[in-house]
Amino acid sequence: MEKFVINGKTRLEGEVIINGAKNAAVAILPATLLVNGICTIENLPNISDINIYCDILRTLGVKITKTAPNTVVVDTRDVNYIDAPLDMTSKFRASYYLIGALLGRCKRAVVGMPGGCKLGARPIDQHAKAFECLGAKVDIGQGKIVATTDGLVGNSIYLDIVSVGATINAILASVLAEGTTTIENVAKEPHIVDVANFLNTMGADIHGAGTDIIKINGVKELHGGTYSIVPDQIEAGTFMLAAVATRGDITIKNCITKHLDVLSAKIEEMGAHVEEISGDTLRVWCDKKPKCVNIKTLPYPGFPTDLQSQMGIVLATADGTSIVTESIWESRFQYTAELNKMGAKINAQGNVAFFDGVPELYGRPVSASDLRAGAALIIAGIAANGVTEVSNIEYIDRGYENIEDKFKALGADIKRVTE
Ligand code: EPU
Repeated sequence: MEKFVINGKTRLEGEVIINGAKNAAVAILPATLLVNGICTIENLPNISDINIYCDILRTLGVKITKTAPNTVVVDTRDVNYIDAPLDMTSKFRASYYLIGALLGRCKRAVVGMPGGCKLGARPIDQHAKAFECLGAKVDIGQGKIVATTDGLVGNSIYLDIVSVGATINAILASVLAEGTTTIENVAKEPHIVDVANFLNTMGADIHGAGTDIIKINGVKELHGGTYSIVPDQIEAGTFMLAAVATRGDITIKNCITKHLDVLSAKIEEMGAHVEEISGDTLRVWCDKKPKCVNIKTLPYPGFPTDLQSQMGIVLATADGTSIVTESIWESRFQYTAELNKMGAKINAQGNVAFFDGVPELYGRPVSASDLRAGAALIIAGIAANGVTEVSNIEYIDRGYENIEDKFKALGADIKRVTE
């Protein structure tokens, strides 16, 4: 087991380069199954969720060659479909994208019930609804999902809930379906647009990604090509909040500043500063105690749930009481108990937490309950007095490439230690 040992208290300063978006990458890799050819994927983050995905695709006959640190060539011409290995697919959440992709390519998908970070109930009823609308039969039970079809046919799909995963899965299943599909009440996150852009680059006919309605005209086949994954807005936001939490000064390169507007506005509301240096570079700095602010997590373009815990670190030492409402996941305040061990005063009740700002945090042993909570606790350790040990860091490795090297380059004293 590995853990991070962090010697605080450091003001972070310098530049950081953002990698490709995890949540786009975990959809684009399985989307290559819809292509009968060779795709070159650039800006692929080097994280454990991607490594597992590559291993799963290899078991299906996909040839994947790494040609540069963040580039792979994916050859899907010889997919010999066998059911995806249940033990591997149940290790992480995004394995559910294999269902849409395999239904489209092979008319059958068997995938283990998706695992992943423990954020509370994570139903997939909207995914099943979309597949059924397109003419698939979906059975969920005994730890797996079995979806089969004689041939998918375009239809109107109205999602009951705005869901990232169901929106992407509905797109994947529609691309090669016969006729036209419209999907309403869809998610609009940048990674939805990125998946649609990838598929369109390979010959799909998808319109409206990034708006409330997506229309897909089914095509006979997709061809190979080259695609570069969008920068990770959550990784960028994590470093923006690290700058504020440590009263530091960080220049964030290779991000799409527009995707971060909601966070930039909150950072300025707190009295810290955001300067757009160019469309892909932001500077964030904080020279005084931030003011309290209220946050409610919402689907894009609202405040992202995936930045709620990192923002919580800032609010823990802000001036006054902040109220945070988590409206996407039911168990995303587990980090607040860890932060209270470090001297914070946070009272979490159901989906609302009250943060009474304290003067300082103190280093303690803490444990990551999920990927974003883990990143948040690293920031807390860097901002705190004394030594913080963060355990369960395998969650962090799922979604952040070289996180300790990036923090070290900004001045943090952080070490990965094997227990
Ligand atoms: N929901 C349903 N039924 C469904 C699908 C979702 O009720 O069929 C509910 C969920 O329970 C949740 C809400 O709808 O309350 C939104 O869930 P969504 O489907 O949008 O989440 P997801 O696709 O499972 C992705 C990201 C998460 C991120 C959420 C919200 C991936 C692989 N995961 O999850 O990322 O929090 O969207 O933006 O894309 C992370 O990166 O740390 C992470 C957890």
